[in-house]
This record gives sequence, C-alpha cells and structure tokens, in this order.
Amino acid sequence: MRIDIVSVQPNLLKSPLEHSIMKRAQDRGLLEVVIHDLKEYGLGKNNQVDDYQYGGGAGMVMMCEPIATCFDQLMSERKYDEIIYLTPDGTRLNQGISNRLSLYENLLFLCGHYKGVDERIRQEYITMDISIGDYVLSGGELPAAVLVDSIGRLIPGVLNDETSALFDSFQDDLLAPPVYTRPADFRGKKVPDILLSGHAKKIDDWRDEQSFKRTKERRPDLLKDYNSK
Ligand code: ADE
Repeated sequence: MRIDIVSVQPNLLKSPLEHSIMKRAQDRGLLEVVIHDLKEYGLGKNNQVDDYQYGGGAGMVMMCEPIATCFDQLMSERKYDEIIYLTPDGTRLNQGISNRLSLYENLLFLCGHYKGVDERIRQEYITMDISIGDYVLSGGELPAAVLVDSIGRLIPGVLNDETSALFDSFQDDLLAPPVYTRPADFRGKKVPDILLSGHAKKIDDWRDEQSFKRTKERRPDLLKDYNSK
C-alpha cells in the first residue's frame, strides 16, 4: 500500500512513522508513506498556503490553489482509492473503517490546519472525512499518523505474529482480555492459575469470558453491535 500525505507541517508527521511497527512495514516494502510539503506548492515568493476567511472572523483558511496543484499532480500519477481529509467534523474513526482502508492500494490524506480547508477543495476532491475523536487538535498531522498506524498494522505481513491483530480490542466489537507476563507473583498479586495450566482450550475460553466481562463493565455500548451479529 502507498499513502501520500499532504501537510503544511511535515516534520510533525515524520517521527511517528520512523519507528517501531510503521518503520518495519516500510522496511519490508509493505507500506510506502510519502509526505508532501504543501508549502512547496504555495503561491508567490512567500509560498502562501492560507488566507483570511471571507465574511470575516478569526483564523486563516487553507487556500484552494496549492492543494489543487499538489493533488492534480499526485492524481495524474496514480488512482487513489480514497482521498481523506482529517478533520474534527469527519466520521469518527473506528476499527471497521481501518479494516476497510487496509485493503486498498493507494490512499491520499490531507491534513487540515488553521481554521480548515476551503470548502471547495472538500467538494472537488475529498471522498472521505475522518475524525479521530470528539476533541480538536492543532492540525491533522497527529490524526494522520494515527490513521496510518491503525491501517498499516493491519496489512498482512506487517505484524510478526500474523494472528495478533485479530485479537486486538474492537476487532470483534469486544475489548481485549487482560494480559500477564513474568513474574507469576508480583507483590502477592498472582497470575490467574488458568494461564499457567497449559490447557489451550480453557485458556481461550477464559480469555473470551474476560473480554466479554471487560466490555460489559467498560464499554457496554459495544455489546449492542456484538449481539446483533
Ligand atoms: N484535526 C483537528 N482535530 C482533529 C480530530 N479530532 N480528528 C481529525 N483531524 C483533526
């Protein structure tokens, strides 16, 4: 998969994608992330990318032309499956959306900044608006990094243990069960006996029960989706 990201703050995006699993995905050639600095497409000698909003009001708006020039160039090079604008007014991201996006070949992300992007860019190019939660961040870069991570780890071959993404929280509308490692006794708190029993079927059943219990306690809203399957 290839993901192109258009941003006015490319440095904010680089670090999260240069380490750990995202690095491995790129090193293995399973994921290519290309960051484009929108200022390179800016207008005039100052490479202007934003301007005052019509109608007045505080805050600048990202202009049409630099984004259109950048997008037109990228879109002449490949066909994008989705062109995604990261914005607090988008659809709230969930595991189902990440699962679907992980099946695509080419994605293009636009990171919003300032007051946001001129509405005409949204009408002309954007096929999906995504929010990572009901709070406002300073720009779309951190949300874009979150989205790359949640999609990237689902690409087959990215995680070492091929099955481990299947057992993540939310993958089946349930939260993940508790996990333990050594020592078996930490300050008198013991690892549940069942996990030391070596009995694979019983351990699976215990984990299912714990997932259900945890979801019921912490996120009963998820059980509605679970029960309707
Ligand atoms: N830009 C600013 N806040 C955001 C959010 N919560 N999700 C996506 N993009 C954003």
